[in-house]
Amino acid sequence: MADSTSQSQETLSNLLHETRSFPPPADLAENANVKAEAYDRAAEDRLGFWEEQARRLTWERPWDTVLEWEPPFAKWFSGGKINASVNCLDRHVEAGLGERVAYYWEGEPGDTRTITYAELKDMVCQAANAMTELGVRKGDRVAIYMPMIPETVVAMLACSRIGAVHMVVFGGFSVDALGQRLDDSQAKLVVTADGGYRRGKPSALKPAVDSAVAERPFVENVLVVRRTGQDVEWNDRDVWWHDAVGSQSTEHTPEAHDAEDPLYIMYTSGTTAKPKGILHTTGGYLTQVAYTHWAVFDLKPETDVYWCAADIGWVTGHSYIVYGPLANAATSVMYEGTPDTPHRGRFWEIIQKYKVTIAYMAPTAIRTFMKWGDDVPAQFDLSSLRILGSVGEPINPEAYVWYRKNIGGDRTPVVDTWWQTETGAIMVSPLPGVTAGKPGAAMRAVPGVTADVVDEEGKPVPDGGGGFIVIRDPWPAMLRGIWGDEQRYKDTYWSRFEGLYFPGDGAKKDADGDMWLLGRVDDVMLVSGHNISTTEVESALVSHPRVAEAAVVGATDKVTGQAIVGFIILRGGEEEVPDDLLQELRNHVGTSLGPIAKPARLLAVPELPKTRSGKIMRRLLRDIAENRAVGDTSTLTDSSIMEVIAKQLPSVKPGD
Ligand code: WT7
Repeated sequence: MADSTSQSQETLSNLLHETRSFPPPADLAENANVKAEAYDRAAEDRLGFWEEQARRLTWERPWDTVLEWEPPFAKWFSGGKINASVNCLDRHVEAGLGERVAYYWEGEPGDTRTITYAELKDMVCQAANAMTELGVRKGDRVAIYMPMIPETVVAMLACSRIGAVHMVVFGGFSVDALGQRLDDSQAKLVVTADGGYRRGKPSALKPAVDSAVAERPFVENVLVVRRTGQDVEWNDRDVWWHDAVGSQSTEHTPEAHDAEDPLYIMYTSGTTAKPKGILHTTGGYLTQVAYTHWAVFDLKPETDVYWCAADIGWVTGHSYIVYGPLANAATSVMYEGTPDTPHRGRFWEIIQKYKVTIAYMAPTAIRTFMKWGDDVPAQFDLSSLRILGSVGEPINPEAYVWYRKNIGGDRTPVVDTWWQTETGAIMVSPLPGVTAGKPGAAMRAVPGVTADVVDEEGKPVPDGGGGFIVIRDPWPAMLRGIWGDEQRYKDTYWSRFEGLYFPGDGAKKDADGDMWLLGRVDDVMLVSGHNISTTEVESALVSHPRVAEAAVVGATDKVTGQAIVGFIILRGGEEEVPDDLLQELRNHVGTSLGPIAKPARLLAVPELPKTRSGKIMRRLLRDIAENRAVGDTSTLTDSSIMEVIAKQLPSVKPGD
């Protein structure tokens, strides 16, 4: 793999010129929770601004110091005492909101549950009592390996109530992935279910836990929710949720925790290395997730119905299905299954049924919906929607415009939110009542966050330039470290640029100074001395009417250093790119971005290799483009896809 950060002659080329922009609807702008003045106020007194946001929460004891900063170690709201579950539940019930719906839950087979704040609080108190009875104490780690069911949220909040540290492992991960995370975190309890529903069938979870815990005696108990009714093997340490939790009192006196007590660990693998256990703590995290959820989605808790379609196994689910929405007393929808079960309109049916006003999903899902056709969402009434969000990857301008038009009725702002597991909360995003959104741009750091784009030396690039996104000042929801590996924390995030947090993403500033995020710097291509982002070339390909999805990589080339090789999914699903179309697509990219960005080769494929959170694994495509054996595919959604793609190789066509 070319190390583009050290070889480059210049920082990232700024090729794409997108001119569309969508101002906020007038009524939204007028009634927005956050207006333009917030930027200046936060810039003038950043710490005072975050104190103001922290005061939106209920503290058992106020903090003594807003921020103690000994780079790269931050402590926010030191001396403050707070309980996250109290902020998500008890205080709302005490304020008379007990009857408000916290979740409209929709199971994949069509079963539903409506859970109010009062009911959720009772469930969490019972689970907290049960965990205590099972010997879980403050500071202990609890693994949660679950389908998307309400008990997953209950388990997380029960941990936060008693001060145990939850570690949610995505239910689609293998025994090995689960085992590795158990070893690293030394969890003493695993919460799981017999299974969950996926693609119309029960999909078992318990057998993976059985295998993972068999050789891990440090796991003392496995707490099992019955969801599917599948047969399960029963071991000595297993306990049914309905027995252990169901029998408990709904009273539980919460303890106030230190603002800096750990709240959770979330493992992130990037696309290669050993997973890093990203550590988040309590007071600062809750402050920023609650604030950003309220500001970026303009949440009106009395009237909005909010739906984040991510999985709780990712940080998006933690921050924007659980902690942010509940801290704000929002009413959310939670859906267990896949978007095409039992039909390809399931998401739109859910929006119609619950009159969802705010929807938040990933570009990979949006591109899939584009591929399925405009006629699918057109069959549903989506007029309740007022704000749409995107997260997880750069959103191609074409996908953004499609989303706004076909889902948002050309009426709703789209907020493209950039952040990471490590940042804990949204960092760069439009504000829907303030920003005139540009398709494909995350625009500006949210009030209170200081992001910039810098060059190789860490100097800010001028407007119109490209480079690396950095965060200048500590922020409340920032990771507090990597579990058990302080050195790796310093090396990974704080060694590239002196005194700056380095997220590892490329970015550019346009002529107005707005930010465009361009994906991981590891993916940047170096062609004839120009650093070219994969995102821009992919977006140019996707803007052609024949292309549904695209992934490009730089393959070693004797002449140009790297040559651009594109893998595309054609809209008709053909698996060959006819010569005339090949030429047309190359010219299309050339016209959009300039001749330097023309792909040398294009290959039509039926699917692209993606991680389970929907990110394209360009590393594997690079292996194919350079005729190497394909590397580790264990984090792929579907590992057979690489064989399918490799078989197409003879049809790789050299360009001119
Ligand atoms: C990486 C973080 C953010 C929570 C879910 C993923 C990419 C994320 C955007 C966006 C461009 C984005 C970045 C980032 N990313 N959002 N709006 N525009 N890129 O969390 O798994 O930790 O991934 O996702 O490359 O570094 P994650």
